[in-house]
Amino acid sequence: MTIKPLIILPDPVLRQVSKPIERVDADLQRLSDDMLETMYDAPGIGLAAIQIGIARRMLVIDLSKEGEDKQPLVFINPEIVSSSDDRSVYEEGCLSIPDYYAEVERPAKVTVKYLDREGKEQSVEADGLLATCLQHEIDHLNGVLFIDHISRLKREMVIKKFTKASKSKAL
Ligand code: NI
Repeated sequence: MTIKPLIILPDPVLRQVSKPIERVDADLQRLSDDMLETMYDAPGIGLAAIQIGIARRMLVIDLSKEGEDKQPLVFINPEIVSSSDDRSVYEEGCLSIPDYYAEVERPAKVTVKYLDREGKEQSVEADGLLATCLQHEIDHLNGVLFIDHISRLKREMVIKKFTKASKSKAL
């Protein structure tokens, strides 16, 4: 397994729409392992393939707490098939926007269809943190970031800060 470099805001790669995966094979499973390794190293609780520069519709999540056994989840071609009217608010962060956190309101429950690591069709009714995390990661597959859900003023401030940081690193 390999830890991959993360794509950081304002890299335009993050705005790409990822393509559906046609075949679940050993290469794809290896990619999912690399994504998990990269996510654990960061550390984070979710990662979409585009965050390591691969525009394919796959994401990984692990919501286990420190000291607990790992619970790696792999979602291939995930699709939200229904979402609740009631909403919940979580403070979100993103490995592509390090050290920035903001409250985001989203549907409290979602049903997601996907293929698992073996390519088997699955469906999950998620609530709580898993529901938020799935929506955040599926957004990534569509080129959407959690800062797109906060106020324009706050969003512009974050983008400005990260643009400045990326320029000073380039010198
Ligand atoms: Ni993210």
